[in-house]
Amino acid sequence: MILHPTYDVNAAGHLTAAGLDTVELAREFGTPAYLLDTDAVRAMCRLYKSAFHDFFGPASTPAFAGKALCYKGLYRLIAEEGLAADCVSPGELVTAHAAGFPMAKVFFHGNNKTDADLALALDLGVGHIVVDSPDELEALAQIAAGKGAKPRILLRITPGIDPHTHKKIITGNVDSKFGMAIATGQADSFVKAALACPFVTLDGFHCHVGSQIFDIEPFRDACDIMLAFLARTRQTTGFEAPVLNIGGGFGVRYTERDPAIDYRANIQALGTEIDRMCALHGVKKPAILMEPGRSIVAAAGCTLYTVGSVKTIPGFRSYVSVDGGMPDNPRYALYQSAYTVVNASRAAEKAAFPCTVAGRCCESGDLLAEDVSVAKPSRGDILAVLVTGAYNYSMASNYNRIPRPPVIELSGGKATVAVRRETYDDLIRLDV
Ligand code: LLP
Repeated sequence: MILHPTYDVNAAGHLTAAGLDTVELAREFGTPAYLLDTDAVRAMCRLYKSAFHDFFGPASTPAFAGKALCYKGLYRLIAEEGLAADCVSPGELVTAHAAGFPMAKVFFHGNNKTDADLALALDLGVGHIVVDSPDELEALAQIAAGKGAKPRILLRITPGIDPHTHKKIITGNVDSKFGMAIATGQADSFVKAALACPFVTLDGFHCHVGSQIFDIEPFRDACDIMLAFLARTRQTTGFEAPVLNIGGGFGVRYTERDPAIDYRANIQALGTEIDRMCALHGVKKPAILMEPGRSIVAAAGCTLYTVGSVKTIPGFRSYVSVDGGMPDNPRYALYQSAYTVVNASRAAEKAAFPCTVAGRCCESGDLLAEDVSVAKPSRGDILAVLVTGAYNYSMASNYNRIPRPPVIELSGGKATVAVRRETYDDLIRLDV
């Protein structure tokens, strides 16, 4: 096993993913290519579902955050596993709907949903709209009144937690574009406005503290603040929220330096804390929802590339250039996210060649990893970047007019195309 159970080395000395030889997969499907071990994704769904049931209570449920990875086949899988879904744009809603996802189990997010987005959500029968601001509440009320609908809503509340994670992915601080803050008193008036609105049904509150969080403290703090808010809201308005959605966020092991995470133990510990805090604040335990994205799909995915050149600059460093880069994985360029890189063609050899892995774009910042060591590659070798299942395909672009790679699902010893490779025709299809 390398890092996660999905990855290993076979007798040929090649990296395997879900038991399949990645060098053969690269030959069959071409590179770059995203692989996704869907059995591993299902295992994570089941882990979350059963832990939520056991430790948060039977009404509690995980909702998969489609922003981490979004295509029709994945929504079908998520539906089969019985999870709800968090959609953050009309594009994600349409994808879920096209996949036959039960829209009543969708939570629709976003800090700027347009009138058209809100109307679409109502037409598609979205279960809950997570209303982000008083402006949006007013717009939704008008649209709902016009359609004779009465949508169920959650209100996005900002608890003001700093999860000590990367600054760019913090969304729970008071100074945030998302939601209304408790600390400023704006959350209280938001709740009053929602309760006074005859065109919506308020079911509870949503908050999100951040992403790639390894321990339960930020979640515990958020629950503490939110349950106190629930208690105060009941006192001031008589409304006792039946639902508390605490957003996404459990982290993932990208490299050996990251800790291994016991998700079930974390959920159990958080469940115990929630019970304690409900008693402390004197509130009936609400249904707890959470929106894991990264932790469901990241470890199950990897990306295969073909090495084009290996260049050593004496006194400086070695660049290994591959046939993908920031268009299929912008995370190093954006966040300097660390990854584990393996020479899939020589996975049994010692990883003793220190290098920087560079993409093919006309941009110096187009790197996939710096200061990593792999078995010395040469042109034609297959290089694998592990743990790319989240926020890679979903953040991919066509920068430099590079077609997006396919998504190849691996399950039960078989590989199938779930999203086909973009063609040059796809690239020019919209040009008039
Ligand atoms: N729910 C809400 C309201 C969120 O804002 C997010 C992530 C999630 C759920 C899912 O969080 P997860 O379980 O995946 O950590 N592009 C960045 C990540 C941005 C996450 C933003 N919100 C990256 O590549 O690391």
